[in-house]
Amino acid sequence: MAPKVLISDKLSDAAVQIFKDRGIDVDFKPDLGKDKVELLKVIGDYDGLAIRSATKATEKIIANATNLKVIGRAGIGTDNIDKDAASKAGIIVMNTPFGNMITTAEHAIAMMFAVARQIPEASESTHAGKWEKSKFMGVELTGKTLGVIGAGNIGGIVCDRARGLKMKVIAYDPFLSQEKADKMGVEKVELEELLPRADFLTLHVPKTEQTANMITAERIAMMKKGARIINCARGGLVDEEALAEALKSGHIAGAAFDVFAVEPATDSPLFNLPNVVVTPHLGAATMEAQENVALQVAEQMADYLLTGAVANA
Ligand code: MLT
Repeated sequence: MAPKVLISDKLSDAAVQIFKDRGIDVDFKPDLGKDKVELLKVIGDYDGLAIRSATKATEKIIANATNLKVIGRAGIGTDNIDKDAASKAGIIVMNTPFGNMITTAEHAIAMMFAVARQIPEASESTHAGKWEKSKFMGVELTGKTLGVIGAGNIGGIVCDRARGLKMKVIAYDPFLSQEKADKMGVEKVELEELLPRADFLTLHVPKTEQTANMITAERIAMMKKGARIINCARGGLVDEEALAEALKSGHIAGAAFDVFAVEPATDSPLFNLPNVVVTPHLGAATMEAQENVALQVAEQMADYLLTGAVANA
């Protein structure tokens, strides 16, 4: 009998086609992820579950998933999956680490420009017919120091693009070798050195026990007066309360956040502060990236279900 896969989030149609072409029985129910009760009822029928971020593969869902062999996350972060529960149940968890890295890096660069030139506020004011030309004085990126925390797949692309913008790039990443840093044209530094030197700070690390709340009030105080902070990685890396205070006092000049401690974020200490640019976790939201991650997750899951080959687990 053909393996059965459930797609419970909005995945590109390309994924459905791949499963079909590989002889897998696929149910595409893009809104099911939000309906925990219904998901709980049907999950026992499936060998594979393909998700983005709306579906939460909790301990309870996994306990009911008696036939499940693989959960595929079309994206990088797997924080919406209870990995301990999956591992105990012998379920493989896969992600697609490469499909959306360019898109996410581009969003961080876009957010850096947006906060440097107050583009969202200037746009809103212009739409309102105000023509406040002298209100929106920005800063140049050329010659400024960008502090990158995490110079892996996404952070590495941000470093490359920032160098193209003629920024001086310094990076804190315990996994970055000196040789690689030299190749990238990036100065490898410790966090304590990066914070006071950065004009712009951007984070590109997953949220783990080590990185949660890593940018505390104390570390924000170590930053240069007038610096700007960009977070397109994971909510909860930066203490939002502390940052809001630093923005109000003028110690930090601006912030651009795509991710929040609690998502969906309907409220945050950062909301409605001047020169804070916010987007609703759009880091991976391009046509290209969504196509890439959907294709990758479907191929990887099909490989595992049909041949036992494991990738990106
Ligand atoms: C990811 O983990 O791939 C990104 O944060 C994108 C997303 O969650 O939609």
